[in-house]
Amino acid sequence: MERLQVLKIGGSVLTDKRSGSNELREGLLREVFSRIRDELAGPLVLVHGGGTEVHRVAVEYNVAAGAERSSTEGLARTALEVRRLNLKVIELMISSGLLPFSVPASLAFRTTGGRIKSANLDPFLASLEHGLIPVTCGDVVFDRELGFTVLSGDSIAVYLATKLRAARIVYATDVDGVLARDPDGRTRLVPLMDYETHRRTVYTEVPDATGGMAAKVEEAFEAVEAGVEVVIVNGLRPERVIGALRGERVEGTYLVRSFSSKKS
Ligand code: IPE
Repeated sequence: MERLQVLKIGGSVLTDKRSGSNELREGLLREVFSRIRDELAGPLVLVHGGGTEVHRVAVEYNVAAGAERSSTEGLARTALEVRRLNLKVIELMISSGLLPFSVPASLAFRTTGGRIKSANLDPFLASLEHGLIPVTCGDVVFDRELGFTVLSGDSIAVYLATKLRAARIVYATDVDGVLARDPDGRTRLVPLMDYETHRRTVYTEVPDATGGMAAKVEEAFEAVEAGVEVVIVNGLRPERVIGALRGERVEGTYLVRSFSSKKS
């Protein structure tokens, strides 16, 4: 039996956030989904991010800041956009020949101060038992301190991969992997990174609403510590996503526990 993998498809792969369009990149997603159907045998959990409109509404109402600084209208409107997006992804998966099962993160997870503190994993486990692909996404959730907040798909991916003992998380992003600025000012792709390297790296990007690449990597190391392989690839290149899921060495960034322990 092949081991479980978690694929996180970033919001900027689903829609072109830079151009401001909320249209799904349908052709690209169809290719990823049909290649998953044809080329992957093992169990998979899919987590996706928020598209352009989800982020726009969440930022407009400052939903991540919680009940005191946001509004229940913002909560309701963001939840609506998340459902709309998730429905489109599910529809595309079904029409590409996959069997997804949508598990709303707003129901499965409770957070405290923005961190997942309890979860109902039953719908994930049951759908996997039936050979389905559980699909969840970055969402609004109820929080024990903040009242409510935004839970990112990245945090969900780390939590699920760790709890469900996944072999690997593949992050499909809109860049080639971790891009670091060298002392000479040049940008380069970091192919292999341990926690020490991550701490020393000068990340090139401007942090976005959910923290950007450095925050993604910091959190992903929690999964690495739990024995999960983490690969960050360019999701606009389907062959890299599929290759990474097949365990091939593709262009991207591989997070490892530590270079020293690898050698010993
Ligand atoms: C965002 O999810 C969810 C909301 C804003 C409600 P993510 O934080 O996982 O989205 P991306 O992948 O970074 O776009």
